[in-house]
Amino acid sequence: MSLAGSQQKIFLRLLAALRPNWHSDANLPAGISELFAANRSFGSRDRRLYRELIYTTLRYLPWVEPLLDTDPTRATKVVAWLAADLPATRAYRMAHCGDWPDCPTTVEAKAAYLKFDAGAVLPAWLPRHCAEAGVAPNLDALHQRASLWLRLNTNDVTRITTEFAAKAWPTRPTAVMPGALEVLAEADVTKSDAWAAGLFEVQDLGSQLILAIAGVSPGGRWLDACAGAGGKTLQLASLVGSAGRVEAHDIRQAALRELEIRASRAGAENIGVLPALSEGTLYDGVLVDAPCSGSGTWRRAPHLKWTTSAGQVTSAAEKQLELLTKFSAFVRPGGRLIYATCSLSRLENEAVVEAFLSASKNFSVEMPAKAMGATPRSVGFAILPATHNTDGFYLAALRKS
Ligand SMILES: C[S@@+](CC[C@H](N)C(=O)[O-])C[C@H]1O[C@@H](n2cnc3c(N)ncnc32)[C@H](O)[C@@H]1O
Repeated sequence: MSLAGSQQKIFLRLLAALRPNWHSDANLPAGISELFAANRSFGSRDRRLYRELIYTTLRYLPWVEPLLDTDPTRATKVVAWLAADLPATRAYRMAHCGDWPDCPTTVEAKAAYLKFDAGAVLPAWLPRHCAEAGVAPNLDALHQRASLWLRLNTNDVTRITTEFAAKAWPTRPTAVMPGALEVLAEADVTKSDAWAAGLFEVQDLGSQLILAIAGVSPGGRWLDACAGAGGKTLQLASLVGSAGRVEAHDIRQAALRELEIRASRAGAENIGVLPALSEGTLYDGVLVDAPCSGSGTWRRAPHLKWTTSAGQVTSAAEKQLELLTKFSAFVRPGGRLIYATCSLSRLENEAVVEAFLSASKNFSVEMPAKAMGATPRSVGFAILPATHNTDGFYLAALRKS
């Protein structure tokens, strides 16, 4: 059997193993990693190829899944065509769909060529929650591979770019955010001297824009109430600088331990970890980066499109209002409250903030000095995927009277 033929067989076998869970398992990427680990013969190139094919399948699941039963050969051809053209996929794509025209960039044009329904690639409920996501250009941006972005922890950019260039990892800065750098290669950037020296963090540009748009001045004591492993804690710590301090809290103690490791690698000495909050402590600022449906991250986690229901979004919104209300008690009079999600849904975003504001009359909306291209909502701003080619986010900046 040819190489392309045996790769097709392996790919279909991997899909068959994942299929029972892909409509229900929000932790599917762990299952994919386990499958790869069980296939001992896979090298890194194989993993890159099959990962891209599986993620493409998940991105366009309603188009591909029926074909798996009726015409698996066409299913693999369609997936090969829709997959990104990468060093790891090039030969496979050439073998399976080299006779088709180049794949267009818009979902609408892809659907027209394949005679599928463009709207089917999103769950039916999503356009009601975020109309822009259902149409170009955000629909297209949501169906691209996510870019790899770094947040620089140094002014010496050339130390990073020189090392990366030597590894054939080209980079590109962006005018919208001077401290961010895009890596234009499939690179494991954690295998670099610059990483070991704490010169950067991996953080999507959209995520970096949240605090940039909200605007955080040097100094002050901040609480990062849902800090997770500290992506935004580290950015907040760098914004408040040595005159300020950030205390990081989360219900996941393991995430806080990882945060400590990251803080020490980044040399951030103004971060403390708070496994439990002490009632009555007041902060100059509180960041609530709330747990959410994650619809803004669907390009990285396309399986979430099929495992998240409208009911779960409603439950997430109830939890978010509860957390925003709880953590608002830690803002000192005159202090700031920043609410953020990686959701596109207005239910989890402006509706939560509106409900909070109507119950908490001592908080009001504060307009940021620069929206940096973000889309104004009734309250706060959406960072839509197409604006800067990022994941989708939402933020609202409030002040306590
Ligand atoms: C969107 S993630 C935070 C991501 C993180 N801020 C970052 O930038 O990497 C939301 C976090 O909220 C945490 N969380 C959920 N419920 C919580 C609660 N009741 N109190 C504090 N944190 C909570 C989750 O464990 C999760 O780490």
